[in-house]
Amino acid sequence: MSRLVVVSNRCTVPRQGSAPGGLAVALNAALRQQGGVWFGWDGSVAESTRRVPQQDEVDGIHYATVPLARRDYDEYYKGYANRVLWPLFHYRIDAMQFSNAFREGYRRTNAYLARKLLQVLESGDTVWVHDYHLVPLGQELRAAGIKGRMGFFLHIPFPPYDVLRALPGHVHLLWSFAAYDLIGFQTVNDRDNFLDCVRRGTGAEVGEDGRIRWGRDSSRAAAFPISLDPADVQEMARSARDGRTVRRLEQSLHGRPLVIGIDRLDYSKGLPERFLAYEHLLDSYPETVGNVVYLQVAQPSREDVPEYNTLRLRLEALVGEINGRYAEFDWVPLRYLNKSYARPTVMKFLALARVGLVTPLRDGMNLVAKEYIAAQNPDDPGVLVLSELTGAAHELGSQLLVNPHDRDAVADAILTALRMPLDERKRRWREALDVIERNDIFHWADCFLSALDATSGR
Ligand code: F6P
Repeated sequence: MSRLVVVSNRCTVPRQGSAPGGLAVALNAALRQQGGVWFGWDGSVAESTRRVPQQDEVDGIHYATVPLARRDYDEYYKGYANRVLWPLFHYRIDAMQFSNAFREGYRRTNAYLARKLLQVLESGDTVWVHDYHLVPLGQELRAAGIKGRMGFFLHIPFPPYDVLRALPGHVHLLWSFAAYDLIGFQTVNDRDNFLDCVRRGTGAEVGEDGRIRWGRDSSRAAAFPISLDPADVQEMARSARDGRTVRRLEQSLHGRPLVIGIDRLDYSKGLPERFLAYEHLLDSYPETVGNVVYLQVAQPSREDVPEYNTLRLRLEALVGEINGRYAEFDWVPLRYLNKSYARPTVMKFLALARVGLVTPLRDGMNLVAKEYIAAQNPDDPGVLVLSELTGAAHELGSQLLVNPHDRDAVADAILTALRMPLDERKRRWREALDVIERNDIFHWADCFLSALDATSGR
């Protein structure tokens, strides 16, 4: 078995003995089994990027990390990755801020990361590259003579051709996928969008089975819906039960049902639309006023990207308006928290909630949806109100699927969830949990790596 080298934009070296998150658990399991290293940006911005990658070993996993230069951080990470590809791949051409400097920064930083990665690669290594920051990395490695198997997994959606076409240089971007033997997507829909873009944008030959003939090279594209470890989520939800924070939340509800949203503060998550739908619920169903609490945790994210700051101001104004209109001296309808909590606390918050609100305008998968299901108490499970524009909706059809742009439908779904009888909640929840248990995060990693191993290589 060849060594595995995992590459992701961020590579956070955990502290000894600390509990890693979902994706890290699965990749660590694969890294332990095959041996290898996890390579990526250490999250710092440095004056000099001349040194060799920093190598660390924590709990048996090897990490190799590098800093980014200020200019690379601005043009590659903040610029091309998060102001061009992120909005475009989430179907938001209007939010895309393309510039040639960003595109050049993306190319230059991928070349820099490839040069650093070459210092830790060994011949025959299998390389697994993650996400939109690093599409051209494979091509850089191939140009340097790397022949081993290379896979790529896209964690976010892949847009249809008419959206992708708005990107100057999209044909070049499409060709850079040719370096990979296997290209993975969250859903069949994303894979089909990609194959259509390849067919129409590059003229490469695309087969029904997801095989692509780029000329001399060939690749395979397939869907591998990402997941989590449900047992780990259940354990976290249980272990946090006696924590002070969770007790305080429970007491503060005074028996009212809790509606919860946990999201990164990102414009793809549909937070303004969600707040307005909740206001519409209070407007249309007066019996809910004073009798329900909506807690929205909006974790700060990409705070130095201007579009995120604009969104934060908009949300603050909306929360002020809704609470100003409806709050009473002993009840606040919308509790808005612009901060992050430890993962076990979040899992217990999810477990306490009668309704989980996951209503992005577009999302590759959305693991909070799966976490909500996994965290529920089997004897009294809640109901998920889930946007049909998420990858998770392809698997969690037993929950209440909504169009996040349809304020009436979201308000009605919250009410239906609040009123749903226990038997029905249990039946729908069991169905959703079965799906998650069948395709957990370990199964996801196994499927991708076995499929990569089955490719003919270069
Ligand atoms: O979902 C895509 C993603 O890039 C994740 O990989 C990451 O955890 C999250 O968004 C946060 O993004 P960033 O690394 O820009 O803080």
